[in-house]
Amino acid sequence: MPRHSDRYIPNLYARDIGVYDTDYQDFIRRTLRDLRQHKIAGHTLLWEAAQLEGDGLLLDLGVWIGWSTRLVADKTGRRVYGFDTFEGIVEDWQVDDGALVKAGALSIAEPWAQRLIEDTGVTIENGIPSKEGRDVEFVKGSTYDTLAPFLDAHPGPIALFHMDLDTYESCLHALETCKGRFEVGSILVFDEYLVTNGEMRAFYEFQEKYGFEFRYRAWGLEIMEMNAAMVGDRTKRFIHKLEAFQAQRLLGDGSYVWKIWDKRFWRFWWGAPWGDIRFMLGKTGQRKSVSLEITSPGRLGA
Ligand SMILES: C[S@@+](CC[C@H](N)C(=O)[O-])C[C@H]1O[C@@H](n2cnc3c(N)ncnc32)[C@H](O)[C@@H]1O
Repeated sequence: MPRHSDRYIPNLYARDIGVYDTDYQDFIRRTLRDLRQHKIAGHTLLWEAAQLEGDGLLLDLGVWIGWSTRLVADKTGRRVYGFDTFEGIVEDWQVDDGALVKAGALSIAEPWAQRLIEDTGVTIENGIPSKEGRDVEFVKGSTYDTLAPFLDAHPGPIALFHMDLDTYESCLHALETCKGRFEVGSILVFDEYLVTNGEMRAFYEFQEKYGFEFRYRAWGLEIMEMNAAMVGDRTKRFIHKLEAFQAQRLLGDGSYVWKIWDKRFWRFWWGAPWGDIRFMLGKTGQRKSVSLEITSPGRLGA
């Protein structure tokens, strides 16, 4: 398998893209070629938030215990609206040909969330995490119910759309609901973009349907691991980071180093360009978050 073939894709040398129709395969190949020119060292969301210009709504979709929202508020100095059920994902999430994450997973009631809530000093009132002094507003409920009424009450374009709802269905629904509020210059960040049957597929279909133009801006770390960085106590922070490292080596991209019985191991080492191998293994976190900018509106406003 030549290294430039792009048949198996990063994060997901898990996925043989031959399972998809040829148009989507072409989109994935074009995307990877493009993204390789836009690798960044840090977290895509924070990188975008730090250089955000102009007015417009800042939306964080899928906030868990709230740190992604608070950190964007810190970086932008502006109000950020965060959306979550706080009771977990609302539909099953089949992560390519890997794990199946069941509806209800990623609730803030889970022990892992509870430990981070306590260790980062967050409190929960009426099922909603505290603001911790930030200019944030959390909207509790499924985005299927909350997003449209929220937009009705908050006019104006969307400047930043951070997608971290994980599933294809919730992602596509949010894109469709926000459609008329995207404009040239709107920044869309997808935390799990390199899951080809999830956020990437939803964006692909959305873009095909409305024919707008966009350009990729960055490919970097997902934001989730910043939760460990927000732990105040040094020893506890070290333990959280150690656990994140172990999880990445055991379950995430780090498992490409040792899981020789898994087909992903062979796809990764035979199929991935060296630049991708260095990029994916060169950091504890997962490199699958991608940002893009809308450059022409197509039929978005129609
Ligand atoms: C990966 S977590 C978000 C992590 C967070 N951005 C962070 O960096 O800490 C995904 C979150 O999306 C929420 N979620 C998924 N689908 C949803 C939906 N349709 N409506 C509301 N919340 C949803 C889940 O409850 C979960 O908290």
